[in-house]
Amino acid sequence: MNKFYITTPIYYPSGKFHIGTSYTEVLADSLKKYHKLKGEDCFMLTGVDEHGQKIENKAVEAGMQPKEYVDIQAKAAIELWKTMKIDYDKFIRTTDEYHVIAVQKIFERFLKQGDIYKGEYEGWYCEPCESYFTETQLVDGKCPDCGREVKKMKEEAYFFNMKKYAPRLIKYYEDHPDFIKPAFRKNEMINNFLKPGLEDLCVTRTSFKWGIQVPSDPKHVIYVWLDALTNYLTALGYTSDDETLFNKYWPANCQVVGKDIARFHLIYWPIFLMALDLPIPKTIVVHNWITMKDGKMSKSKGNAIYADELVHYFGVDAVRYFVLHEMPFENDGVITWELMVERLNSDLANTLGNLVNRTVSMTNKYFGGVVSDKGAAEDVDADLKAVIDNTPKAVDAKMDGLRVADAITEIFNLFKRCNKYIDETMPWALAKDEEKKDRLETVLWNLIQGISAGARLLESFMPSTSKKILDQLGDGHVTEKPEILFQRLDLEEVMKKVEELHPHIEEAEEEEDVIDIEAKPEITFEQFGAMQFQVGEIIACEAVKKSKKLLCSQVKVGSQVKQIVSGIKAHYTPEEMVGKKVMVLVNLKPAKLAGVLSEGMLLCAEDAEGNLALMTPEKAMPAGAEIC
Ligand code: MSP
Repeated sequence: MNKFYITTPIYYPSGKFHIGTSYTEVLADSLKKYHKLKGEDCFMLTGVDEHGQKIENKAVEAGMQPKEYVDIQAKAAIELWKTMKIDYDKFIRTTDEYHVIAVQKIFERFLKQGDIYKGEYEGWYCEPCESYFTETQLVDGKCPDCGREVKKMKEEAYFFNMKKYAPRLIKYYEDHPDFIKPAFRKNEMINNFLKPGLEDLCVTRTSFKWGIQVPSDPKHVIYVWLDALTNYLTALGYTSDDETLFNKYWPANCQVVGKDIARFHLIYWPIFLMALDLPIPKTIVVHNWITMKDGKMSKSKGNAIYADELVHYFGVDAVRYFVLHEMPFENDGVITWELMVERLNSDLANTLGNLVNRTVSMTNKYFGGVVSDKGAAEDVDADLKAVIDNTPKAVDAKMDGLRVADAITEIFNLFKRCNKYIDETMPWALAKDEEKKDRLETVLWNLIQGISAGARLLESFMPSTSKKILDQLGDGHVTEKPEILFQRLDLEEVMKKVEELHPHIEEAEEEEDVIDIEAKPEITFEQFGAMQFQVGEIIACEAVKKSKKLLCSQVKVGSQVKQIVSGIKAHYTPEEMVGKKVMVLVNLKPAKLAGVLSEGMLLCAEDAEGNLALMTPEKAMPAGAEIC
């Protein structure tokens, strides 16, 4: 039997998880369920990443000991995954004793092998937050968390010799085209981190205590990424007395991670495994982000949406549907309340719910709830049957390519085809003619086959809905009363309740001033046409050294990545820039700004006070889409 080991990132339990976190989890869960249905021996790992300065600070804020704090958070995470119908096999906490022991063994092994050496860590330190930041993380030269002054400080620390492994990693990428999905992430790693020269990674700290101690030098704690990444091994018993699970499931078949942690998983993680002489996972899939209309979801912006809130309005399966279906494979997906109500009403209540309802009702009305195949076929049946036959193959192909949103679209295309079949065959008209009784029964039988096939395929994504449909349709014996699968919602009512919950939405809609600027001479259409504007996705961004104003972004435009320097450092941090879809003038003659090559221009609006706002498409658009 094939085995399938799938992992999610372990989340920082520093507060309530928002819908973005749930997306990662639901995505991995649907992949696991899918492989399980294919008869594979599956194991899914998830958990929480409990150590580090941030968590220690959160615990202090909450007036608790760190362990007490993470105990409560871990419990909440387990509850949430229960609500979201996540079928994991193991939940790891990095404070679990077996993990702590294994990480210490791994650290000492690296030290002994010479992969880890003692050196000095230098960075910008914020005393009140007791945290180090890199130059690029600072906001206007100040602490990004509290806005206070930071000091350049040094501390003794251990480093992992990443440089040594870089050539081996590049070779590994080349020899294993399936290792990184989507493939463009590989180029990102090579261009942004490996080509410029990989830095060694600092793997310990002495500035805080909440972490795993280095056994041979106890004033150091192991810094979170070495502690966190190895969870994928320790959860299976690696280095413990019982390595049965490890021997059975390692290497992982699929590791699901978000784009913000791609670097850690695509560079440091395989290097750690090389140093441990262990096989590298088959595939690491990097997904994009769920964003809100006004950009990145964040607690401080007050625009975060939480899964439990959504479940309350829409039900679990609808939420699973939204996140899986709205997230394209290679781009960010925007989620809004309006969109969710629209999807609920049109895809779930109408296309699917109504289809099941009509079919159950007609089977009851015309045949007392039982139909069989009467063989009264007509030409119009052939296309429906072909779609029924082909959909499982199409779904398979999409799932093999990890294109979950597309797989769901295939299933809904089948439901749409069934709806069309009702329009084509008009069962209510057949029912009026006693001689067409066999034909009517055949039509209903075919419909039940189509819906059941779709419902079986839905199991990995919307498990309760799949079961509810199959229970109602049971091989030609339908239930007496159709069960309403999805209740339609009224957008206005939902928005009223949402505004009560999120008052900031109204605040954001304050009236704006107008400004007039000096008019430029008229241009011709040709002059306009000479400029090529496209949508670009910022995949990496950093401050330009020695410049107060400039940020340097790597911008994906179609299949190319352009380097663009912009004077917007006072308005955006590099972290804020990453993931944004922006308007790019792509055929501007390349020029050097502060010695750095710039191959285009990001377009911004500017108000009278000189505030800048990047131009972004108001709907989800692929990187490379022409702006005309
Ligand atoms: N603890 C680390 C991971 C260690 S794995 C060895 C961490 N935790 S996290 O809680 O900050 O993020 C966990 C996951 O949630 C990441 O994959 C991240 O990309 C994902 N998401 C956070 N916000 C998200 C969205 N808005 N949309 C989609 N996924 C998002 O990083």
